[in-house]
Amino acid sequence: MTLQVKSLAEYKDAYQRSVNDPEGFWAEQAETFHWQKKWDKTLDWNFKDPDVKWFVGGKLNITENCLDRHLADRGDQVAILFEPNDPSQANISYTYKELHAAVCKTANALKASGIQKGDRVCFYMPMVPELAIAVLACARVGAIHSVVFAGFSAQALADRIKDSTCKMVICSDYNNRGAKNIPVKKVVDDALAMDCDSIKTVLVHRNTGGEVEMEAGRDKWWHEEVDAQSADCPAEAMDSEDMLFILYTSGSTGKPKGVVHTCGGYMVYTCFSFRNVFQYQDGDVYWCTADIGWITGHSYIVYGPLLAGATTVMFEGVPTYPDAGRFWEVCDKLKVNQFYTAPTAIRALMAKGDEFVDKYDLSTLKVIGSVGEPINEEAWHWYDEKVGRGHAPIVDTWWQTETGGIMITPLPGITDTKPCFASYPMPGIQPILVDSQGALVEGNDVEGLLCVKFPWPSMLRTTYGDHERCRITYFSSFENLYFTGDGARRDADGRYRIIGRVDDVINVSGHRMGTAEVENAIDEHPNVVESAVVGYPHDIKGQGIYAYVIIGDPVPDEDAFRKEILAVVTKEIGPIAKPDKIQIVSGLPKTRSGKIMRRILRKVASSDTSNLGDISTLLNPEVVEEVINGALV
Ligand code: WTA
Repeated sequence: MTLQVKSLAEYKDAYQRSVNDPEGFWAEQAETFHWQKKWDKTLDWNFKDPDVKWFVGGKLNITENCLDRHLADRGDQVAILFEPNDPSQANISYTYKELHAAVCKTANALKASGIQKGDRVCFYMPMVPELAIAVLACARVGAIHSVVFAGFSAQALADRIKDSTCKMVICSDYNNRGAKNIPVKKVVDDALAMDCDSIKTVLVHRNTGGEVEMEAGRDKWWHEEVDAQSADCPAEAMDSEDMLFILYTSGSTGKPKGVVHTCGGYMVYTCFSFRNVFQYQDGDVYWCTADIGWITGHSYIVYGPLLAGATTVMFEGVPTYPDAGRFWEVCDKLKVNQFYTAPTAIRALMAKGDEFVDKYDLSTLKVIGSVGEPINEEAWHWYDEKVGRGHAPIVDTWWQTETGGIMITPLPGITDTKPCFASYPMPGIQPILVDSQGALVEGNDVEGLLCVKFPWPSMLRTTYGDHERCRITYFSSFENLYFTGDGARRDADGRYRIIGRVDDVINVSGHRMGTAEVENAIDEHPNVVESAVVGYPHDIKGQGIYAYVIIGDPVPDEDAFRKEILAVVTKEIGPIAKPDKIQIVSGLPKTRSGKIMRRILRKVASSDTSNLGDISTLLNPEVVEEVINGALV
């Protein structure tokens, strides 16, 4: 197994070694895995093109390391522990042996449907074990998985399928979420009706058992395809730098981009970071509440835990069903030792009252984690006192879809914690701060733009089908640096505090959203001339979505119009992108070159109009007053 540091001295030592000799450090970690052929060179890189290769020439299959490698020692240990949406239903568990067999059968079914190494397979599924099984089955045969969060709309799903020309979609019939039953297959059918010509097969898992339409020749039932297969499936030999998966994420411009992760480096770093951040010990039960539709689910429900031979809980439901005590009830019932969730969930549960958490026994918890957005001080203290209860430190983990794994975080029981601070870099991670001109911001008690100056194994390699976009987005702002898009503070002791995005990306309930993407959706409404979207502070969601809209014809009923806008956004992207506030305006403040002054719109949306700066140089200063007067608070 990869190194697990146990003390502050060991952390400092590992950090120093990882900086002095990164190749030696990571080669040592990589040695602990099963390679079909050892690599020739540990690292080749430049951030100019960019071109980053780890473990060059090595051959491996990540599923042999997630599954086969554990069969001798822990074949009968539970690998996946499934907690269904309905709390009265029994848990389902897969031991490593059972998971191995299920993955091999599914891999054989993929092959029988013509899926080969390098093909893209799209997922649109709820959080059921079959999702993890089929993701691993893809990796087993060398197919590239592209998991789409099942809350996205048919349009958003179609965009993603087309961007990476997927050959197959794997979905369920319906999806249980709290009291709702969502027709998943229907969404897939609607998406495929939008010119998704590359799709040859739809594999449908019968989950809830409702009626679905099956298109002859295209749609196949999981149980008919998978159950009869052999449980013997040799793992495809993958190059370290072959693609493992694509995951779409929002940026400040245009359509979401497909972040690409590759096999070798991602494997090494997710296992290493999982073991250190959560200090997982044999026999522990680990639970991350994320959805596999996001990077957190990829790295810290599926790959990291399974690579480390852990027991990982998969939860189908939502935090408030049947009531706001569900998380804590499950922690108590399953005797969870490490718990990992998002600040938005913590804030939502905090608002429901302490009685939902106080009544459960949380004494098994050793580590509690936070991810996805800044955790505010009040939520941090509530989490610490009500859930951690003096025996489980908080790890506030900062990272991104693009980084593949946790980058900056406390190590529980090893480094100190401070509210709102993601704290210290992981071994192998070299963060720096620069100013807007790219000059290094040195010393402590300073603020700047967060960059990383040296490659780490699980960093993104490209954006699917458009390498130039990857270069421009992450590597062109500052020479020889990976730019995160986040601003950060470094305190007097060298701890990092993430302030938030400095680009036009907003973070709503831990979900990344490009403002341009939401604007494009709103603009689809026939009566919208132009729109501008900004984030504003929101008690539960972290950030809410505030939309300013210029209309063509007068609208007699503004509420009805707002509902139409919400419907358009739901159709184009999904309910997660629905604006919280929509203000109708006659104009948007613009510079003389026609650029929208988002700074002003952000201030108005945040009810902070004390210091708007110089507006006299605007093309249309008169609209500022109108925007302020009409602001929705
Ligand atoms: C934000 C999620 C503050 C940040 C793993 C980043 C955070 C974006 C934290 C990535 C944290 C993530 N504190 N902000 N602990 N973790 N972020 O790609 O702005 O969905 O750039 O990855 O979330 O979001 P993504």
